[in-house]
Amino acid sequence: MATHCYIKKLKLHNFRSHSNFELESDDSSVVITGENGIGKTNILEAISLLAKSNGMKKAKASEIQNRFSNEDWVVHYDFFNGTDFNSIGIAKSFDKKLIQIDGKTQSSYSSLYKISNVIWLIPQMDYVLLNSPSDRLKFLDRIVSLFEENYTCCYMKYRKAKHERSKLLRENILNKNWFSSLENIMAVNAVSILHMRSSVLKILQDTIDNHSSKLFPKASLKFSSQLTLDDTAEYFQNRLKENREKDSLTGRVTLGVHNDNFRVFCQKRNLPINLCSTGEQKLLLLSIILSSVKARCIHYNKAPLLLLDDIMSHLDKHYRKALIEEVLSIQCQTWITDVNQDNFNSYLDSFKFFELLSK
Ligand SMILES: Nc1ncnc2c1ncn2[C@@H]1O[C@H](COP(=O)(O)OP(=O)(O)OP(=O)(O)O)[C@@H](O)[C@H]1O
Ligand SMILES: [Mg+2]
Repeated sequence: MATHCYIKKLKLHNFRSHSNFELESDDSSVVITGENGIGKTNILEAISLLAKSNGMKKAKASEIQNRFSNEDWVVHYDFFNGTDFNSIGIAKSFDKKLIQIDGKTQSSYSSLYKISNVIWLIPQMDYVLLNSPSDRLKFLDRIVSLFEENYTCCYMKYRKAKHERSKLLRENILNKNWFSSLENIMAVNAVSILHMRSSVLKILQDTIDNHSSKLFPKASLKFSSQLTLDDTAEYFQNRLKENREKDSLTGRVTLGVHNDNFRVFCQKRNLPINLCSTGEQKLLLLSIILSSVKARCIHYNKAPLLLLDDIMSHLDKHYRKALIEEVLSIQCQTWITDVNQDNFNSYLDSFKFFELLSK
């Protein structure tokens, strides 16, 4: 059986609508209920900060600050990482986020990403697989980062170097050493990114094909890149050098892993997801997320945290039951929000329930 991460205790202070909120759990999954606007999603957002610096809502530290208090927000997690407990604190400090792990202030997010592992499905993601190629790629990146702890750092290095190179081109700064150092960073990281994306996609497709729930539709994941897996960093660096003039004229980086194309098809009918019904699209998205969690359990023997915001409202009775059974069978700590507990009435012993009440 896979070991899994879980949050044992969560404390929010001045985090969005929560002035002071505390929730204690064990390793079981959590269902948070309460009326609209009571603060359910805000709790999931606080958990998502463990995996992404600006969380699932891509919010700046200042946006998260409770509007009715001048005292900076703080989130504290007693977190089990699969082996040990960590005491993690994330807080607003001026306009940035400060991270502490076991009492030590961290200089970057990378140490946090190494211990935490979270994936989510929120209503804002409903159309992510139908949106632009860059949105679809971001979705894939979130999944890859679940498997490869260095992925986010590699991607950030690649993006920063790409951005700086574009700035040099735009401002016509013809410093060859500067260009080649940036292109080297881009090339080295692009090769790693491509290899990590490909290997995670392989694992994920295998899990979808052979281990995923028969109750959910299966997805075919298609991926193409301008680079091949045989291309070396040196080769890509040379191509970037050749392309400087072209990139300067077009104002964009014409070659690179930021142009990779990730598409999803419904396996049964070999239909691109955009031609599926709204319900089918949601189920495919959900089934990819569930398969990612499962793939991580199978291949890494470690289950991440799974956040499902307002998920039940999308599903009919049959799929609600299937989802609950699937979540319980994967045995990862899942945090689900719902307006009431009714959907879980047959599973009262399997989840920890928290009802948020207005003051
Ligand atoms: N920075 C902030 N300061 C204070 N309140 C905020 C802040 N940001 C958001 N809120 C408020 O938090 C409240 C709760 O939001 P949340 O999205 O968590 O509710 P919810 O319980 O998930 O509701 P629903 O069931 O409608 O999804 C909202 O009324 C929102 O206006
Ligand atoms: Mg909500």
